[in-house]
Amino acid sequence: MEKKYNIAVVGATGNVGREIIQILEERNFPINNLACLASSKSEGKKIEFQNKNIVVKNLEKFEFDKFDVALFSPGAKISSKFAPIAANTGCLVIDNTSHFRMQKDVPLIVPEINSDKLDSYFKNKNRKNIISNPNCSTIQMVVALKPLHDLAIINRVVVSTYQSVSGKGKEAMDELFEQTKGIFTNNNVQKKNFTKQIAFNVIPHCDDFLDNGNTKEEQKMIDETKKILDPNIEVVATCVRVPVFIGHSESVNIEFDSSITEEAARKALQNFNGISLVDHRKDEGYITPVESAGEDKIFVSRLRKDHTIDNGLSLWIVSDNLRKGAALNAVQILETVAKNKYLSF
Ligand SMILES: NC(=O)c1ccc[n+]([C@@H]2O[C@H](COP(=O)([O-])OP(=O)(O)OC[C@H]3O[C@@H](n4cnc5c(N)ncnc54)[C@H](OP(=O)(O)O)[C@@H]3O)[C@@H](O)[C@H]2O)c1
Repeated sequence: MEKKYNIAVVGATGNVGREIIQILEERNFPINNLACLASSKSEGKKIEFQNKNIVVKNLEKFEFDKFDVALFSPGAKISSKFAPIAANTGCLVIDNTSHFRMQKDVPLIVPEINSDKLDSYFKNKNRKNIISNPNCSTIQMVVALKPLHDLAIINRVVVSTYQSVSGKGKEAMDELFEQTKGIFTNNNVQKKNFTKQIAFNVIPHCDDFLDNGNTKEEQKMIDETKKILDPNIEVVATCVRVPVFIGHSESVNIEFDSSITEEAARKALQNFNGISLVDHRKDEGYITPVESAGEDKIFVSRLRKDHTIDNGLSLWIVSDNLRKGAALNAVQILETVAKNKYLSF
């Protein structure tokens, strides 16, 4: 008989948590008991799952010991405190926040790329019992880079992102909506989640500034790409928030070690699991974030040679940041764990 899992979703009322619950249902992951956890202010709220109403519980009072896996997305600070508590009871944690990603003894996984890392991780009896899900902008970029890096070594990537407000949580989505409405109705623009007006504007500032001039979001793209794909790839990133509700876009310029033809790149991208190449050099022949919302694939468009360097390609990548950028990737990690029977019961 198929094993059924006890799964806890931490941050269940948030953008990522809600998407995780929806994807678990869509993909029919075998679940015995689903616990939905959030802060005390959400205690008692109801979340629909498989035609049942699940009552949201307070994370602070929850016991993880009867749960096989907990999918965490309550923010880095809360994960830093509660993920180890859950993991120490024997419950495997798959964490969506940035807190554990760069820790040496925590695997940072995109299943299409490096799920093989999990074999040795689960053989280690002293493992932390935490797996990290990468940053949304990193995930969609590395999925597109992987088949190209397999064709010709990538030396350097220059990326500019166009990131939707859902990447900053549900309140940020409300802020874009309220500001847009306010501007049309001649009301004041209220700023809370963004440093500047986001409606009808773009903001070259995602997450806090670091001493080196990068923002944390830019540094995540640099560090995580090295950890997931290859430590020798140099990345220059500029991360920009745009007034789009769902779907991150990226303009990416790639410098290779040796020559690579457009045709070979096209074929490699087309054949790679999780990528949809939509690239017709005409009106509507490319994907925009609105079309990516609700989709599982990452979309590659505008593929072309960069004639200013010896071995360069430019492309445009779009993906639903809440799905492949967060919830879907986390559920795919969970499916990989289940398929390989990494948890011994
Ligand atoms: N959105 C993305 O594209 C994306 C992608 C990758 C990673 N992430 C990461 O995932 C995390 C969550 O993002 P999100 O977009 O889902 O944010 P969100 O919409 O603001 O949701 C936050 C969730 O965390 C819960 N939470 C907050 N404080 C808590 C506490 N003290 N105890 C328990 N639960 C608490 C909230 O519960 P209440 O409703 O009760 O407040 C809510 O369920 C962040 O670390 C983010 O960086 C997001």
